[in-house]
Formats: sequence, structure tokens, C-alpha cells
Amino acid sequence: MDIRFTSVSVSFGGRTVLQPLTLSLTERRIGIIGLNGSGKTTFARLINGLVKPASGTVTVNGLDTVKDTSAALAEAGFIFQNPQHQIIMPIVHEDIAFGLKNRGLKADEIERRTAAVLARFGIAHLAKRRVHELSGGETQLVAIASVLVTGPGILILDEPTNQLDLKNRRLVENTIAGLDEHTIVISHDLPLIAKFDRVLVFHESRLIADGPAEDSIRAYHAVAGC
Ligand SMILES: Nc1ncnc2c1ncn2[C@@H]1O[C@H](COP(=O)(O)OP(=O)(O)OP(=O)(O)O)[C@@H](O)[C@H]1O
Ligand SMILES: [Mg+2]
Repeated sequence: MDIRFTSVSVSFGGRTVLQPLTLSLTERRIGIIGLNGSGKTTFARLINGLVKPASGTVTVNGLDTVKDTSAALAEAGFIFQNPQHQIIMPIVHEDIAFGLKNRGLKADEIERRTAAVLARFGIAHLAKRRVHELSGGETQLVAIASVLVTGPGILILDEPTNQLDLKNRRLVENTIAGLDEHTIVISHDLPLIAKFDRVLVFHESRLIADGPAEDSIRAYHAVAGC
């Protein structure tokens, strides 16, 4: 994974919500923390082209997220804060197969890959269930499976354990911990982030700390004042 931000800033309606930053992301597990409204989601959305920089460039494995948006999107999958919003088909199996159909794969290949990803996440028993009847944790797993089935090497998750009970939280945390893909996780769940290779801290639209998890979590406590 090679994600590069070069002099990137973001403004909405003339208000700067991300001050200029330059960095490159290569580590296997990267966490993003900070208070509400500090700019975390805005930063992550730059990677999949959903937010356009006011200045500077963002590249994902050499692909510019503005000029080569769809190619850059294929490199990095994104799980939104509310995964219900990204589920397209009514039945779990159909939703997971959807991205593969869109890529024009043959039916037997779609079936093979869908079955493999269902088994990988331990959700084969959910294949025929209606997506909107799943629990929060099950929905998160289906959303992760639906994105990873298309084979992006990078997965970006925006608050994946938010609103989950203890059991589902553990389920999703363990799933994230076991992923082979590079992962970038925005979270208020500090014990989850504490195990990561590198943690970025945003505060009032600025990147204020970037380094080992322990140091970054300390910096976050300092700006939060608690
Ligand atoms: N599309 C938009 N239009 C206008 N302002 C926006 C837009 N998206 C985000 N903002 C503003 O940018 C700032 C940063 O928002 P962002 O969603 O990145 O915060 P966050 O750190 O992810 O917060 P949270 O922890 O609450 O999810 C906020 O002040 C927000 O109101
Ligand atoms: Mg957010």
C-alpha cells in the first residue's frame, strides 16, 4: 500500500476543514482518532475520491483520486459509518455477488468467490437472509465481505464498531485483526486502535500527532483534556 497526500487541504463553503498536510501511508494497520468534527472522515474520504482536495493531490498506489477516480477506488474499499447505506441488494448472497456482476465475471466464478468470502467471514449461514433483518454486527460483516470480495488490497473502515454491543464489537474487532488486507480504521474505540502500527490524531482540522499508538493516544487525551 502506498497512499500519498501532498500539500492537501479541504474546504467546504469557504471554511477550511482540513489544514494542508503531506504524508504517506504504507503500514499494515493505521488508526485515525480525534474528537467529533476534527476532520477524520474528511481525511478518509479523500482516499476514495468522495471528497476533493481544495489544494494538493492524493494518490493511491500511484493513482490520482481526482484524475483516476475509478481506478483508485478499485485499490481501496470503503466501509461507511452506517453500512446499511452501502448495501444495495435485499439478500446477503446477492449483495456480495453484486460487485462481481458489475465487473462482468462469469456466473460460476461469481458463485465461487461469493461462497469463499462467506466462508472466510464465518457468515455462510446468513447467505439467504434479508440484509435489512440482520443484526448490527452481522451487517458490518456483510458490508466488509461485499467490499473485500472484489479484491481491493486496502480497506478503510469509518467507525466500524460504533453502536455495536460487546459481542458484536468483539466479532468485528477480531475480523479486522485477522484481515490480510491493509486496513485504515477511524474509531473512538481506543483499545482497538492501541494495537495498530501507526495512529494519526486530528484536532480542529489539523493533523496534530502521527506515530506509535501509545504516543498518539496520549496526544489525543491531552487535547481532549481528559
Ligand atoms: N459535506 C460537507 N459540507 C460542509 N461541511 C462539512 C461536510 N463534511 C464535513 N463537514 C464539516 O467538516 C468538519 C469535519 O467533519 P468530519 O466529518 O471530517 O469530522 P469527523 O472527525 O469525522 O467527526 P465524527 O467523529 O463526528 O465523525 C466538521 O465541521 C463538519 O461539519
Ligand atoms: Mg466521522
